[in-house]
Amino acid sequence: MLLERDAELDELRAVIGATARAQGRLVVVEGPAGAGKSALLEAAAELAQNAGVRTLRARTRAAQGATGSATPPAAPA
Ligand SMILES: Nc1ncnc2c1ncn2[C@@H]1O[C@H](COP(=O)(O)OP(=O)(O)O)[C@@H](O)[C@H]1O
Ligand SMILES: [Mg+2]
Repeated sequence: MLLERDAELDELRAVIGATARAQGRLVVVEGPAGAGKSALLEAAAELAQNAGVRTLRARTRAAQGATGSATPPAAPA
């Protein structure tokens, strides 16, 4: 259960609605580690799936020079 993300989820719901009407959008979610980016996007993916919008997931290798722990490459799910 996400706390205090109503505004963000409303915005993402609108983006999902636009996507369902073939009006694509690019959304960048940024914030420090632990801010809740992944949790927010999990919730958005669930909203999208419930709206019948196909979701794809991918993950990057950590960029050279990036701080933080390296993320192992993973196949898109
Ligand atoms: N809005 C929220 N309400 C409750 N718990 C949250 C919320 N956002 C994140 N969390 C929890 O905080 C932790 C860090 O969130 P996470 O999404 O992994 O952060 P990030 O991807 O930005 O590093 C996780 O345990 C997650 O479940
Ligand atoms: Mg994350």
